[in-house]
Amino acid sequence: MALLNILHYPDKRLHTIAQPVTHFDSNLQHFIDDMAETMYASRGIGLAATQVDVHQQVIVIDLSEEKNQLQVFINPKITQSSGEVEYEEGCLSVPGIFDKVTRAEMVTVEAQNPQGESFTIQADGLLAICIQHEIDHLRGKVFVEYLSRLKQNRIKSKLKKQEKNS
Ligand code: NI
Repeated sequence: MALLNILHYPDKRLHTIAQPVTHFDSNLQHFIDDMAETMYASRGIGLAATQVDVHQQVIVIDLSEEKNQLQVFINPKITQSSGEVEYEEGCLSVPGIFDKVTRAEMVTVEAQNPQGESFTIQADGLLAICIQHEIDHLRGKVFVEYLSRLKQNRIKSKLKKQEKNS
């Protein structure tokens, strides 16, 4: 396994639209293993392939305390959503920045597993928020883009300063 490099906002590559996965083979499994390792090493709860500059529709999530309940969503689609919830989000591509975003409270998600088998789940709570956040990445959207233009500009200059000093 290998650690992958995570792109940082405002890197333009984060705005790439991910393509559907069509080959469910050992290369895909290796990539999923690398994504999971990268997410765990960064102490994240979710990671989208877009964030490691691979533009395929792959998401990994693990919300468990022990970090032993990996959830993989390939070609995910939200087919139903309801309610509204506000939550303070963060993102491995926007280090050190946390802000409130309003999303659907409950979502129904259709996706495929690493073997290519379809499944449907209903999610609420943090899982629903996390799935919506990661699917946004696959569509080229970073959570800070829900914030005001003023806040986005502040975040951009703060991150540019951090990159320079690191
Ligand atoms: Ni993110």
